[in-house]
Amino acid sequence: MDVIAGADELGARCDALRAGGQAIGFVPTMGFFHDGHLSLMRAARAERDAVVVSIFVNPLQFGPKEDFGSYPRDIDRDLALGEKQGVDLVFAPDVDEMYPEGPPEVTVDPGPIADRLEGASRPGHFRGVCTVLSRLFHLVGPSRAYFGEKDAQQLAVVRKMVRDLAFPVEVAGRATAREPDGLAMSSRNTFLSPRERRAAACLYSALRDAVDAVLDGVTDATSLVRKMRERIEAEPLVSLDYVAVVDEDTFEEVDEVLRPARSLVAARVGKPRLIDNVALPVRENAGRED
Ligand code: PAF
Repeated sequence: MDVIAGADELGARCDALRAGGQAIGFVPTMGFFHDGHLSLMRAARAERDAVVVSIFVNPLQFGPKEDFGSYPRDIDRDLALGEKQGVDLVFAPDVDEMYPEGPPEVTVDPGPIADRLEGASRPGHFRGVCTVLSRLFHLVGPSRAYFGEKDAQQLAVVRKMVRDLAFPVEVAGRATAREPDGLAMSSRNTFLSPRERRAAACLYSALRDAVDAVLDGVTDATSLVRKMRERIEAEPLVSLDYVAVVDEDTFEEVDEVLRPARSLVAARVGKPRLIDNVALPVRENAGRED
């Protein structure tokens, strides 16, 4: 596994891979790997000829009061884990290498999906994500790029960017990796105290409550949101940001679950802000009058 810090070198190495007929699987990350990241690397290893991983905590996608400075970093551990997954190239630039002229003046407008939910709570976040991914996609030229479904809205925004701007890359979403009690794996979980860690499990329990309710015949989003809220608000260590039931593609809130939809949650548990989501089942005859 080679580790590269220079953008030009990355571009040249990836050009050579493609010229040699190798299809590149790309896993963009901010590092501090957990099994969610590693499962994306394993998928890329199984499905593509060459695997490129980026490790870059992208300042553009953090607000001024967010955790850019304290975001967990451990490059040596990440490199050891990446090597074990059979990664070919790791791109680990510093901020000056990624943005040599300073914060870019030209950025990618992520469109209306990005105004909702995470976008409303974190203004500018998805613009930063789309901008860094545009640079990375151009440098790497992957045929497939891998993202975790934990960041479901990010995945929807990236899919839309790739479609609307004709990036020649396939976007592959992969299932959220979970701890045994259901908590979604996240680099930020490292900041949870043992009590907060136990409390954080209520986020997934609330999402499961919504799935169970739909399976029991509840399709009304207000009832589903109320159920999820009740579960989370019963946990004193958790401070809820939002719960929502949204259309799978547009991330607009829906009144009823009649077509593919997701329930989403964002909450602060102690210091870290955590997000999670699940796809809701659509009952076979949902929405039929007879
Ligand atoms: O999901 C992440 O880790 C980041 O948002 C990404 C896609 C690597 C862009 O910085």
